[in-house]
Amino acid sequence: AIDISELLEKTGLTTLDIGYKNTGSTKSAITFLDGDKGILRYRGYSIEDLAAKSTFLEVTYLLIFGELPTKEQLTKFTSDITKHTLVHEDNKKILDGFPSTSHPMGVLASLFCSLTAFYPESLDPNRSSEGVYLSIVRSLAKMPTFAAWSYKNAVGHPVNYPDNSLDYCSRFLKMMYALPAEHYEVDPVVANALDKLLILHADHEQNCSTSTVRIVGSSKASIYSSISAGINALWGPLHGGANQEVIVMLEAIKQDGGNIEKWINKAKDKNDSFRLMGFGHRVYKNFDPRAKIIKKAADDVLAKLGINDPVLEIAMKLEEIALRDPYFIERKLYPNVDFYSGIIYRALGIPVDMFTVMFAMGRLPGWIAQWKELRENKEPIGRPRQVYVGTQSRAYVDITKR
Ligand code: ACO
Repeated sequence: AIDISELLEKTGLTTLDIGYKNTGSTKSAITFLDGDKGILRYRGYSIEDLAAKSTFLEVTYLLIFGELPTKEQLTKFTSDITKHTLVHEDNKKILDGFPSTSHPMGVLASLFCSLTAFYPESLDPNRSSEGVYLSIVRSLAKMPTFAAWSYKNAVGHPVNYPDNSLDYCSRFLKMMYALPAEHYEVDPVVANALDKLLILHADHEQNCSTSTVRIVGSSKASIYSSISAGINALWGPLHGGANQEVIVMLEAIKQDGGNIEKWINKAKDKNDSFRLMGFGHRVYKNFDPRAKIIKKAADDVLAKLGINDPVLEIAMKLEEIALRDPYFIERKLYPNVDFYSGIIYRALGIPVDMFTVMFAMGRLPGWIAQWKELRENKEPIGRPRQVYVGTQSRAYVDITKR
């Protein structure tokens, strides 16, 4: 990468790079990725090592504070988060105002932004580092509560309060699934698979939602409003919605009699715009390192839960056939992380509308780390330029003459 910012400033030139495909918007020491080699590292540690050896909260600490925590640091961090899992009871009133038809992502973004009202001190751009730490802890603690509540609202069930005797993922699962009249036991295989999924989604450098968090944060907006903006950016089908598309496609194949070959041929047909959802990646051209890890978690979940779901059977057959097909081999089109995360969520009984909420829960540490980095680096307000292509100066025409 070449830093041409000084040259541009001196010459008054503007670069045009729609979609910022080749434009670095910042210098960051958080996440490194090499799409050609299939490398993803958080703070220098490989995603493979982190997924195999760390928990989500350890990875969260690493992303936000730059180092893997010691035992003492992790204990304190975990206990600080656990202390703040309850949300203000008035949040319940906000939730009750949403019809059950509300998309859970809209509910989540609104509840998250409402933290600015419950903790107005977070609006102070000159907050002490202790204050910032408290906001970080509150964000991490309350996100699963809001996420589970956004689901309860959609299904019309009473909300559950956090059970602080459980770990981060188990607590979320219990808030999501427990019903008042039934005993609910969290399955450790499921909690472990979710923990891995969250680690794999925790950061992915300057993607659309992360860039949004940074640009909103650059105006010195609070952490809660910046993250709420990130949630909204993630909501878009081109960003967080891909795993949902995988399930929609698998269901369509099932409806169509389960003829997988026919759909694969459709994806290969250059006169048909259809693409196999969950295959290929814009950045990872050989393989998506996250997909390798998550495939194992998907296999574990399916083996443990003994899922008898024709849609998931189609997924497994589709993967097998596509991986042997020269069309996909030549173009290096492998199943990506969304293919397997869609399968796991489906196996866990999570409805498709909730998939992006799960993604938001995973991406939260990345958003926080990037917001904190921007603040600590005292980065200037983000303000891209444009190349004006509209009409030049015109004489004003009175309304009677138009
Ligand atoms: N199914 C069939 N053919 C495909 C697919 C697919 N999923 N993906 C790419 N191709 C083909 C293209 O038609 C093209 O073929 P050609 O060389 O004969 O013209 C070739 O592979 C290269 O495709 P590009 O469009 O150049 O690849 P690009 O990097 O632009 O696209 C993308 C990557 C958008 C992810 C694409 O693979 C795709 O649409 N995949 C399906 C959607 C999906 O799973 N998205 C989630 C990605 S993961 C994420 O964003 C977190």
